[in-house]
Amino acid sequence: MKKLAFLIAGLTVALYATILSADPEAEQAAFKAYFHSKFPDVDKADFVNGVYALDKKRREQWVELEEFPPYEIAIDEGEALFNNTRFADGKSYGHCFGTGQHLRKKYPYFDSEKARVVTMELAINDCREKHGTKPLKYKIGDLAKISAYLSYHSRGDVIDVIVSGPAAIQAYNAGKEYYYTKRGQLNFACVDCHVSSAGKRLRTEILSPSLGHVSHFPVYRLKWGSIGTLHRRFSGCNSQVRAKAQPGQSEDYRNLEFFLSYLSNDLEFNGPGVRR
Ligand code: HEC
Repeated sequence: MKKLAFLIAGLTVALYATILSADPEAEQAAFKAYFHSKFPDVDKADFVNGVYALDKKRREQWVELEEFPPYEIAIDEGEALFNNTRFADGKSYGHCFGTGQHLRKKYPYFDSEKARVVTMELAINDCREKHGTKPLKYKIGDLAKISAYLSYHSRGDVIDVIVSGPAAIQAYNAGKEYYYTKRGQLNFACVDCHVSSAGKRLRTEILSPSLGHVSHFPVYRLKWGSIGTLHRRFSGCNSQVRAKAQPGQSEDYRNLEFFLSYLSNDLEFNGPGVRR
């Protein structure tokens, strides 16, 4: 993988396109096999727990946190928002999403009509706008709370992203390109920290593997003191290497989520989560 990242960074655009048209299914298998052999003692289903799957001490602290999980309030508030919000036309979230149970596993998906990746958070705001109501902020606040509620009621469902047809493969490849591209003053790509260096220390942190990264969002971070979406986390990782963070639900972030989710297919959703 490291070699691949290095190769990709040095390739011309034309050659790059050939590599990117490789078979997603084969890539998913290679990605999983890489982590399974790098961490042979980690139960395959445990990759949804990030760094807590790798480090015993961190895991103990996390298990303790989970006794009174700090994301619980967000689930309750999200439930109230989901059930009690009335849009400008008198309709509710239920008109778009029914009861909201087992919703998380439908996302992200590729909408071939609109030729774009639709994430759960995007769908929430699409629903609001369809009913004449202003969209919510994408990274924090009410939308993250609604996402927490919906994710909670999808726990145990399995990630099952479908990448089929040229346009969907293009979106997947765009996500992949973003993932492998070095950026920022520090000139790091996602792959440098979360594949090649997974399990290693970076200052006070231990780097988590990308496998399972999407399963447990939104996340209550102690550092944030609040709940935030996956795209908030992407922004944080961009800033960490002094690259420009993108707005939540930018095309790049949605494609990235699509790519990463596909690679984690067959793992269980376990959101919302708690992290340092
Ligand atoms: C310089 C290293 C570095 C780079 C580059 C980096 N990250 Fe991170 N990332 C971290 C650290 C440190 C954390 C917190 C510890 C952990 O869980 O890995 C983190 C956490 C995360 C998490 C949360 C993990 C969890 O279990 O909740 C996600 C998701 C993530 N990064 C995605 C990305 C993506 C996508 C990119 C590329 C846009 C990226 N990161 C680039 C260092 C990096």
